[in-house]
Amino acid sequence: METCWWVLWWRLLVVLAVADVGLAIDEYSRADFPDGFIFGAGTSAYQVEGAANQDGRSPSVWDTFAHGGFAGGPTGDIAVDQYHKYKEDVQLMAEMGLDAYRFSISWSRLIPDGRGDVNPKGLEYYNNLINELISHGIKPLVSLYNFDHPQVLEDEYGGWVSRKMVEDFRAYAEVCFKVFGDRVSHWTTVNEPNILAHGSYDQGISPPGHCSPPFGAAACVHGNSTTEPYLVLHNILLAHASTVELYRRNYQGKQHGLIGITLYAFGFAPYSNLTEDVEATQRAKAFYLGWAADPLVYGDYPEIMKRNVGSRLPRFTTEESELVKGAFDFLGLIHYMQVSVKDNLSSLSLELRDFNADIIVSNDALLGFDLIVQFPVRPRALQEILEDFKQLYGNPPIYVLENGQVNVRNTSLIDVTRVEYLQAYIGAVLTALRNGCNVKGFSVWSLLDVFELLGGFQTGFGLYYVDLDDPDLPRYPKLSAHWYSHFLKGGIIDSSANVELASNLSSVTDLRSQRSSY
Ligand SMILES: *[C@@H]1O[C@H](CO)[C@@H](O)[C@H](O)[C@H]1NC(C)=O
Ligand SMILES: *[C@@H]1O[C@H](CO)[C@@H](O)[C@H](O)[C@H]1NC(C)=O
Ligand SMILES: *[C@@H]1O[C@H](CO)[C@@H](O)[C@H](O)[C@H]1NC(C)=O
Ligand SMILES: *[C@@H]1O[C@H](CO)[C@@H](O)[C@H](O)[C@H]1NC(C)=O
Ligand SMILES: *[C@@H]1O[C@H](CO)[C@@H](O)[C@H](O)[C@H]1NC(C)=O
Repeated sequence: METCWWVLWWRLLVVLAVADVGLAIDEYSRADFPDGFIFGAGTSAYQVEGAANQDGRSPSVWDTFAHGGFAGGPTGDIAVDQYHKYKEDVQLMAEMGLDAYRFSISWSRLIPDGRGDVNPKGLEYYNNLINELISHGIKPLVSLYNFDHPQVLEDEYGGWVSRKMVEDFRAYAEVCFKVFGDRVSHWTTVNEPNILAHGSYDQGISPPGHCSPPFGAAACVHGNSTTEPYLVLHNILLAHASTVELYRRNYQGKQHGLIGITLYAFGFAPYSNLTEDVEATQRAKAFYLGWAADPLVYGDYPEIMKRNVGSRLPRFTTEESELVKGAFDFLGLIHYMQVSVKDNLSSLSLELRDFNADIIVSNDALLGFDLIVQFPVRPRALQEILEDFKQLYGNPPIYVLENGQVNVRNTSLIDVTRVEYLQAYIGAVLTALRNGCNVKGFSVWSLLDVFELLGGFQTGFGLYYVDLDDPDLPRYPKLSAHWYSHFLKGGIIDSSANVELASNLSSVTDLRSQRSSY
């Protein structure tokens, strides 16, 4: 009975998927991807480690933000305790067949005072994790920063708002190169700086939660929504570029790793076919992605930003421009969803404007998505972004470092829509590759359900479910974990494989008895 139901359910979904996806490839296997193409899954430090107050770690701005009660009060104090369970998690990755694990280092665990002494326990933890990965043949893709600079630096000089962060970030990165660089193949510096600058310094919805009235969602104590986002992104680009310069000069020759930065890309579609909405869509692309990508590729901000933001947009000196231009071996790309863009001419008349007002777009249409609801499956958006990188930015090597589907955290282990989503987006990457896009890897967000940036513990993107009600925090594979493993081990991905996987699972009465068995 149950099996039949799932088969029918799958047939229906396959019909829907084909209708929506159009020409995208929906039957493929790993053998269709080039040799050396890396498939992984990821997390970040504060979202999984826990042990927040243990072994000498000091608070980051994310600890402070979470303890301030955002998202109903949950924190990463315990998270999913990867600090103590990393061996178990690496075992899951190995069983699943991952090539790579993307994780981040907690700056305040490694260097609790922000600069100076290295915490031996922090050093030991990341050495253990990296060695465990390597002994299982899994590449560490290491991110240096994910919304979590040490609170002491925020207190001392305001963190990214100050140019002083450039020096401190580079010194922290240098410690990481020195102690871990012999084993790290791919470094990324700051995670999604374009979203960080907008979300954390204009809207105030992510750490450190800066904004100023009338902008921003939260009751912000610090910040200036009209100026700080631009200042912060500028300082991040300088910190990134001087870190890359240092890596290339002193470490890359002997360590043979690659270094890049990870940018967030929405898919943008005009709200209507009116000329003003089509033009607003072009502006949104320039502001959201061009803001970081243009300086990295061409050494300067997009013209439209200079025009609309005026004196609030910092200028690069000639020297800085040369430093930033070309400061990457690859670009990491984060993509989840497409949003529609609606012109809002009246925002031009505001005396003080924030980011979206500078783009001259309506906040409603641009951010009219609900993070708790499943992202719709629109793989063409990813294909188009990859095409833009080819056409507009010289076809640099790209690793898709985050992609996946959000869902309410604990509904079911049979996450059919997540499988549908991943199947379509990996298919879009394959289509882009066949069209000549220079894509080198794909990493699912996330390995397991983590403490989410915006959804706390209400939402999850995980291939594994973590039962937070059980003090052992056991991990259980969802359908998507089985599906990804089937793909990674060379299985054909098509609708009949999906039906078979789903019906195999539905015949198991207690899914939790499945604890990491394939
Ligand atoms: C933000 O900066 C602008 C430009 O310097 C200034 O006019 C405005 O008063 C500042 N706003 C706040 C809330 O400090
Ligand atoms: C814009 O026009 C195209 C072609 O006529 C159509 O397919 C599309 O649905 C229209 N888009 C919107 C948002 O109305
Ligand atoms: C359009 O801009 C005006 C500012 O002039 C603002 O008050 C309004 O909220 C904006 N509309 C939307 C839908 O974002
Ligand atoms: C999640 O689980 C809790 C406790 O097991 C339950 O109370 C809640 O209703 C569940 N939420 C959803 C959306 O399934
Ligand atoms: C489903 O289960 C059967 C029987 O155990 C197994 O042979 C088959 O490989 C499974 N299918 C998939 C896609 O894992």
